[in-house]
Amino acid sequence: MSETWPNHGTITGPIVMIGFGSIGRGTLPLIERHFHFDRSRFVVIDPDDSDRRLLDERGIRFLQAAVTRENYRDMLKPLLTAGGGQGFCVNLSVDTSSLDIMEFCREIGVLYIDTVVEPWVGFYWDTSAGPAARSNYMLRETVLAAKRRNPAGTTAVSCCGANPGMVSWFVKQALVNVASDLGLPFEEPTTREGWAKLMRDAGVKGVHIAERDTQRAKNPKPANVFVNTWSVEGFLSEGMQPAELGWGTHEPWMPENARTHETGCGAAIYLLQPGANTRVRSWCPTNGAQYGFLVTHNESISIADYFTLKDGDGKALFRPTCHYAYHPANDAVLSLHELFGNGGNIQPEHHILDEHEIVDGIDELGVLLFGHKHNAYWYGSQLSVEETRRIAPYQNATGMQVSSAVLAGMVWALENPERGIVEADEMDYKRCLEVQMSYLGPVRGFYTDWNPTRDREKLFPEDVDYNEPWAFRNVLVR
Ligand SMILES: NC(=O)c1ccc[n+]([C@@H]2O[C@H](COP(=O)([O-])OP(=O)(O)OC[C@H]3O[C@@H](n4cnc5c(N)ncnc54)[C@H](O)[C@@H]3O)[C@@H](O)[C@H]2O)c1
Repeated sequence: MSETWPNHGTITGPIVMIGFGSIGRGTLPLIERHFHFDRSRFVVIDPDDSDRRLLDERGIRFLQAAVTRENYRDMLKPLLTAGGGQGFCVNLSVDTSSLDIMEFCREIGVLYIDTVVEPWVGFYWDTSAGPAARSNYMLRETVLAAKRRNPAGTTAVSCCGANPGMVSWFVKQALVNVASDLGLPFEEPTTREGWAKLMRDAGVKGVHIAERDTQRAKNPKPANVFVNTWSVEGFLSEGMQPAELGWGTHEPWMPENARTHETGCGAAIYLLQPGANTRVRSWCPTNGAQYGFLVTHNESISIADYFTLKDGDGKALFRPTCHYAYHPANDAVLSLHELFGNGGNIQPEHHILDEHEIVDGIDELGVLLFGHKHNAYWYGSQLSVEETRRIAPYQNATGMQVSSAVLAGMVWALENPERGIVEADEMDYKRCLEVQMSYLGPVRGFYTDWNPTRDREKLFPEDVDYNEPWAFRNVLVR
């Protein structure tokens, strides 16, 4: 049986994939389907060889090694330049510095993509660094500084997974839908400022990256095992960073333990508590109102920053609040409960549920644009594990949303090879969604009349701001 897939271009040089975990495995078949490339120059690097069978059976070279601060230049250069053409570095690992590898790739003219601004090993758990230093805000600022130092040149796509990544494209599509439904006279913006004005004019006060993962494991979670539907290591690292959010200009109140940054874009604040232990009220279509975790993510900051309007002195006139409101798979919720109940000590065993260990469920991942005249609008993907099994191998629904965004980002980079360092907010959202759409299951928009003051104060008094229903004061569970 052979199926034909749309070809999205030719990668003329080597492909080097760093990291062959849940996302690397899922991205592999998409690269095979959608690009022409030279298989003999495709190399995968990972210190863990658990899945090398998938590479051996395809004749793809596997290098069992860790990319480190000390070896990355010497290890990567020959691999990325062998045989001429323009190489492509696909970084899907943990514990490697996105910034260092990205800058090196640009130095040698190699295209680059990753799904997170990842630091070298040790950053997330450095007890001598304060919360600000361990924030995504600071990690993103290092990438922005590199972009300022060297604005043009070979394209490097920063943070192009599902979120961060695809959700930035969803925000634009959702905003266009809301503005049209409101009857606003507008032409689709072509500049960052134009997009920010459209968001302001549509009356959007903020955006939740509102996700509900209902994928259910066949076997109940054992005690002392952290179970998740994607990288446990990745989730724990970001979950133990401070909770962070893009801070909207409509917010009348800040939590006492909130802090602002002294340097940088100024678009975000952080709380002196871990995101994975910070709950917020949000809404997703299938289950309706829900608690999500305010885990820090790059897109919370990049989206808020992208849609900021400033006056001549640089003061923000309009900015949406933006943060993640993540209800992970039930087993991951239980895993977090167990972890924080045990003093924050991480379980000795970690497990990522693959597509065969899941009974059913969907990863409902979208953006909730709120505060406008039609109240709130969720737009996103409702991909099920059943559909995922049909459309691509080696991944569950969560992985598919990420790997297909990596594919879209790679296509965009090939088509725009000289754009310097870019974030998903700066890419052509229509083109990227066009590439990705067939892998996302139903992609739909829903209006809701829910807001975070709903059903409050029934049995006990609470501190609720009824004048500004969408204030973070109401969203944050306190
Ligand atoms: N943007 C998004 O939507 C999104 C979603 C999921 C995951 N991610 C990110 O993608 C990355 C991969 O996620 P995953 O679920 O595949 O994780 P995973 O834990 O399944 O895999 C990570 C892989 O990296 C390898 N690795 C560790 N140290 C390495 C090193 N020094 N050099 C090379 N490889 C090394 C590990 O052995 C492992 O196989 C993580 O950084 C994660 O945060 C982003």
